[in-house]
Amino acid sequence: MTASGSRLRRLICRACCSEFDPNELRGPCPSCGHTLLADYDLKGLDGRVWWRGLRDRPPGLWRYRELLPVADSGAIATLGEPTTPAFRLGPPSEGVRSGLWAKDDGALPTGSFKARGMTVAVSRARELGAQRLFAPSAGNAGIALAAYGARAAIPVVVYLPERVDPRTAERVRGYGAEVVRTGATIREAGAEARRREAARGFDLSTLREPYRVEGKKTMAFEIAEQFGPEALPDAIVYPAGGGTGLVGLHKGFEELRALGLLERSPRLIAVQSEGCAPIVEALREGTPRVRDWSEARTVAPGLAVPSPFSSERILEAVRASRGGGIAVPDSAIVAAGHDLARRFGLAVAIEAAATWAAVPALHSSGVLREDERTLLYLTGRGDG
Ligand SMILES: Cc1ncc(COP(=O)(O)O)c(C=O)c1O
Ligand SMILES: [Zn+2]
Repeated sequence: MTASGSRLRRLICRACCSEFDPNELRGPCPSCGHTLLADYDLKGLDGRVWWRGLRDRPPGLWRYRELLPVADSGAIATLGEPTTPAFRLGPPSEGVRSGLWAKDDGALPTGSFKARGMTVAVSRARELGAQRLFAPSAGNAGIALAAYGARAAIPVVVYLPERVDPRTAERVRGYGAEVVRTGATIREAGAEARRREAARGFDLSTLREPYRVEGKKTMAFEIAEQFGPEALPDAIVYPAGGGTGLVGLHKGFEELRALGLLERSPRLIAVQSEGCAPIVEALREGTPRVRDWSEARTVAPGLAVPSPFSSERILEAVRASRGGGIAVPDSAIVAAGHDLARRFGLAVAIEAAATWAAVPALHSSGVLREDERTLLYLTGRGDG
């Protein structure tokens, strides 16, 4: 074994305050069914020394290995994840605020930010002895799971809703994974997956195991390194579906604050489609958890999550950051996708286009002030 230096010490449930040994495979909290989150021994780590030492490490998310859960570096299944580019959107012109930046996770293996969660969760599942992995997916998570499963030599089954583009199924199969097409949305596909697989496989569904969030939190670490504590964005506009991205961003910034490396966190702004906006609705209504969305209908498959699991954690992340949310019509999302390509040369996934679609409404509704330094999180690559 090559020790990674991981400072993981326990899993905790924020809902019922139980704690668990992290060295066995675990799904949701055995006591109450909510999400378990990884907790690290941060007190034993000199934040400033650690942060300075990162300069000498290769790019990519595994540079943060002390704050990731894998104990044996030999268990890591990596595809050479780069640190993804962050840059100012410009040149400044009409309609483009001077304080607008983008971070482009389309540069990751398989073309989306889902690679972050999967490289970490698949590696940790391998370390803990998982023999078979499964998850429901709208597409990108399944493609990433299939790729990292291949890299780790663990069989993978992906449950895709029936409406998902057949090309997505082909991409998943291309990595040697099995595909089951079932159900109208990811909710039904997930229920069927658990019915069929629970006895033989390990469930990597969004927020039902602790470690995809750990991969996602490296979005916050990279942003902090790329912008620096003084020039951190004031707000991050993020396309929300299952919510791991928001939970991960929040957790990452909180850990950096606990290490004394940041004084403040950016405000997290959730963007959804008007055709499926349970998180935005709950933020508006001030409820502790989301209400199921009855008819999920949107052009953005990754945003079609009618009942996100452990939504308390998602809402908590947005609220703790003093953030907010907004829903945009599908027509604006599609138009924003074209606009990003024509105006900036960025061909992004339809979910990511929602961030750009949201900017005018965020300004006019006052959720975002025009003088706030704003980062659009572009979660995936388009076909262009
Ligand atoms: C490109 C893209 N962006 C955003 C999301 C939403 O992800 P989450 O809310 O789980 O972070 C997805 C999920 O499928 C996606 O594929
Ligand atoms: Zn619990």
